Formats: sequence, C-alpha cells, structure tokens
Amino acid sequence: MVRYLTGIQPSGILHIGNYFGAMRPAIELQDKGEAFYFIADFHALTSVHEPQVLRKNIRDVALDFLACGLDPDRVCLFRQSDVPIVTQLSWILSTVTPMGLLERCHSYKDKLARGAQPFHGLFAYPVLMAADILLYESDIVPVGKDQKQHLEVTRDIAAKFNEAYGDILKIPEPSIREEVSTIPGLDGQKMSKSYGNTIEIFLEEKALRKKIMSIVTDSVPVEAAKDPDTSTIVSLFRHFASPDQVAEMQEQFRRGGFGYGHFKARLFEAIWEYFASYRSRRKELQADQNYVDSVLAKGAERALSVARQTIHRVRVAVGIEE
Ligand code: TYM
Repeated sequence: MVRYLTGIQPSGILHIGNYFGAMRPAIELQDKGEAFYFIADFHALTSVHEPQVLRKNIRDVALDFLACGLDPDRVCLFRQSDVPIVTQLSWILSTVTPMGLLERCHSYKDKLARGAQPFHGLFAYPVLMAADILLYESDIVPVGKDQKQHLEVTRDIAAKFNEAYGDILKIPEPSIREEVSTIPGLDGQKMSKSYGNTIEIFLEEKALRKKIMSIVTDSVPVEAAKDPDTSTIVSLFRHFASPDQVAEMQEQFRRGGFGYGHFKARLFEAIWEYFASYRSRRKELQADQNYVDSVLAKGAERALSVARQTIHRVRVAVGIEE
C-alpha cells in the first residue's frame, strides 16, 4: 500500500497557503493509501521560543487538521516529538550529509536574508526533515512548492546513506499540485508566516474582513478597466469560487466601474462561506478537551511502532546494534 506522509510546523496559526498547498491534498489522499501526518514541533523550535505559544500552536494545528476533515481512524496523526527516535535518525543521517547540500538550501538563505539568526538548528533543518520522511518509509510526500528543494535534499541524503550502507532507506517522491503550489499572500508574495502576509483559516469574521480589505492593490480608479491576470484578489478567488464566478469577476475587472473594495468584499464572502462547516466542526471539537489528546496519543503509538523497525535496521546497518 502507498504510504503518504506530510508535516506542518506549529509555528503560527495555519493559513490558506498551508490549507491548499498541503492540508487539503493530504486529506484527499487519506482514503487512497496509508497516511502519516504530523505536527513538526521539533522544527518549530527553530522559530518559536515561547513555550506557551508553542503549546497552544501544537493543539491548534491538530484541531485545524481535524476540523478540515482529517479522519483520525484512517490517518495516523501525531506529534513529531512523540517519536524522539527521529532525532537519532537525524544525527545518523547528518554523518553522511555533505555540507554543500545544506549550504545550497534556499529556505535557509532566505531566512537569514530576512534577519533570522544563523543557528545550527536552522541550518540542519533539512536533515531532520529527511529523517521524518525516511523514518516512516514514505512513498509520497504532498507539500507546497517551497518544500520541493527539501524533498530533493531528502532523496540525496537517502541515496548517500544507501550508497554507504546498502539498500536500507526508501527513496520518496514529492507530490506538488501545480495549481496550488504557491498561494499568494496579502502583498502578492508567497503566503508565509515569516512574511507576515497570511490569511488564517479560522479567523473571526471581523478580523478576516479586515485582512482581506488590506490586500495590496494598485491605484487604478474605480471607473477604469483593471487587469485580472496580475491581481492577487483574483488569484485567491479562484480557490474559493466556481469557474463561472471567477469568469464573472474577471469580466468585471476588464469592464471597469467596480472598485477593488467590491472585489475584496466578494472574496471575503467566498472565503467565509468556504470554511463555514469547518468552523462549526472546529467549535465542536474544541469543546472536548480530551479528544485531541486521545487522537495524538493513538497516533504516537502507531508512528512509534513503524519508527522502531526502521531505526533498528539503520542501527544494524551502521554497526551500533547487532
Ligand atoms: P510549513 O509548516 O512551512 O508549511 C506546511 C505546508 O504548507 C505548504 N505551504 C504552502 N503551499 C502553498 N502556498 C503557500 N503559500 C504555502 N505556504 C506553506 C508548505 O509547502 C508545506 O507543505 N518543512 C515543512 C514541515 C515539515 C515537513 C516534514 C513536511 C517538517 N518535516 C516532512 C513534509 C515532510 C514546513 O516548514 O512546512
């Protein structure tokens, strides 16, 4: 059976880039094979240094995933840190990982350029990610485009390990859906927690409206024709509306006579409507404090049983276990 795996960092509240790039594809795959989805809390330590915030975020990611339709009877949903074996594999993999491979990672360079401190954890981030993927013998990893290079690094690390110790690790394939590979944020750049341009999935009505109204636009006046092809409003609207509704908005852009405020209001309604049923489901789930804990505990047990088998093979292969 095909095994799917993906992870999301609890480094903030989940946004619609996470939703379309990874959560929705992952949820759609839950019926098609064996799914392992996890909350990457070890990874989040590279950016979140407030324990209270991290604790809350971890629960929120689990809740968001469940509210959006993840079925815990089909998916093994777990916290990365509940299977500490992953850090052991990460160390072993780091001994076959060339420095150059990590030095080339855009994500690291990009974070430094935006003012992050060059901590070793940030640099070694892709090795831990490789350990996540390889520990669970994943076949397919559904992610957004920004993770493509990390998947290539994972494949390279696995190949290096196998070259040195025999055919031990399974080489995974990424799965990136072109149409949702990079969801734009409020300023038109990739939506990202670190860019401060996110639209969170479960905002309150007023806060959501305010965010949508703050989408950056040009200063073309109301009466004039506007270009739908370069508009962030239209690119976001596509994900929430039918093809007919999108065509109508594009036509109104070209015709002129409608201000950006009008289009933003349409976008707001579409987003609000789209997540309506998930919002009520989230409220129900939130009411039962023990539910999330019990899902994560069950997930951890299953994840551990797979992890133990892989680490055993790896330890024997490298010579630290008989
Ligand atoms: P993270 O937490 O930054 O993002 C989680 C997922 O959301 C996708 N994503 C997007 N997709 C489309 N458009 C966007 N604007 C957008 N923003 C985020 C990401 O591509 C990702 O799929 N390193 C990972 C977490 C991780 C992981 C793993 C993933 C740790 N170990 C093993 C897969 C397998 C990360 O930082 O994702």
